[in-house]
Amino acid sequence: MMGNEKALLDRLKRPLKDLRISVTDQCNFRCTYCMPKEIFDKDYPFLEKTELLSFDEIIKVAERFVASGVTKLRITGGEPLMRKDLPDLIGKLNQLKGLEDLALTTNGVLLPRVAHELKKAGMDRVTVSLDSLNSDLFGRINGRGIGVKPVLEGMKAAHEAGLQVKVNMMVRKGVNEQEILPMAKYFKKTPYILRFIEFMDVGTTNGWNMKEVVTKEEILKTVQSELPLQHVPENYYGEVASRYQFADGENEIGIISSISDSFCSSCTRARLSADGKVYTCLFASNGTDIKTPLREGATDQELDTLISRIWENRTDRYSDERREGAATRKKIEMSYIGG
Ligand code: GTP
Ligand code: 5AD
Ligand code: SF4
Ligand code: SF4
Repeated sequence: MMGNEKALLDRLKRPLKDLRISVTDQCNFRCTYCMPKEIFDKDYPFLEKTELLSFDEIIKVAERFVASGVTKLRITGGEPLMRKDLPDLIGKLNQLKGLEDLALTTNGVLLPRVAHELKKAGMDRVTVSLDSLNSDLFGRINGRGIGVKPVLEGMKAAHEAGLQVKVNMMVRKGVNEQEILPMAKYFKKTPYILRFIEFMDVGTTNGWNMKEVVTKEEILKTVQSELPLQHVPENYYGEVASRYQFADGENEIGIISSISDSFCSSCTRARLSADGKVYTCLFASNGTDIKTPLREGATDQELDTLISRIWENRTDRYSDERREGAATRKKIEMSYIGG
């Protein structure tokens, strides 16, 4: 995978392989760790419509990234399904030559309405967030009192439409760690792969504290107390989740350990915000504006030069630095950059 001669390399020799595209900063949930409702209220300065990249602009940027070596696109938000006519965008992105994987990260509740259309447009897979199987707890976490059922229905609709489904569970100590084992047991018996995510210090509003992190080792120990696991190799270079198969061969889980076991040395991801800035790290303070050159009529060549300049100057390794105790900076919100 790494040997692709087309791939741009950053200053730490990491190839550019993925683009994560945020299509909106709006969400129909108010998860306490991402968009706490006290802050993301009606007075919050969400992006104006004119600030958002249009579909044509997103397609142009994605096209130039794919021409620069990107093979994976992931659509994020906020909640990406809140962007009107999303399947139209997917259909166009799916036509880009060189693209190998087209995925979406969603909270799932709007999936029953659009899963078929997404699949028809060329979407390969979706990742649905679900932090608990207990509706009361889940309703409190998502800040909107939404129960588990609509999310499970979203997964089912996606699966029935022929999309591959993964499930993301953010684990936060004192909040939902007791749900680790029930979630593992439940999803083991489904066609969906469950991934546990260590609570991360993204953004500035979730009051992150190291004491609230349940580490990969702790998660493994909890699952293994009843369900023995076996580590299995990654599916592709730079995969974010470490994979563990259940010893009886039925299904697997993943763990995303940005805090306790970071993975910056193989990070191949660029991010495009809904208002057209390119970020080279989830924890970046600043992005590079690509919307202005686009709107001023930049040529493909000029956009390609901008992209290579951004990537070739990249030195980000925030999660590694955090582990080394050297990380503090102003950060952007998860709902803005899309995770
Ligand atoms: P696959 O393509 O299926 O391997 O999924 P993915 O893990 O790339 O995507 P997903 O959107 O499901 O990400 C899962 C979690 O990992 C989210 O919480 C992301 O914020 C986090 N994550 C993804 N990429 C990075 C990264 O580069 N750095 C850090 N620190 N976290 C990341
Ligand atoms: N730490 C860990 N995961 C987070 N997510 C959002 N904010 C955080 C955070 N601070 C998760 C969501 C979703 C995924 C895209 O990122 O739960 O599953
Ligand atoms: Fe919305 Fe996802 Fe953030 Fe929850 S974690 S508020 S569903 S963007
Ligand atoms: Fe990549 Fe930044 Fe995450 Fe490290 S912290 S894996 S550099 S996005």
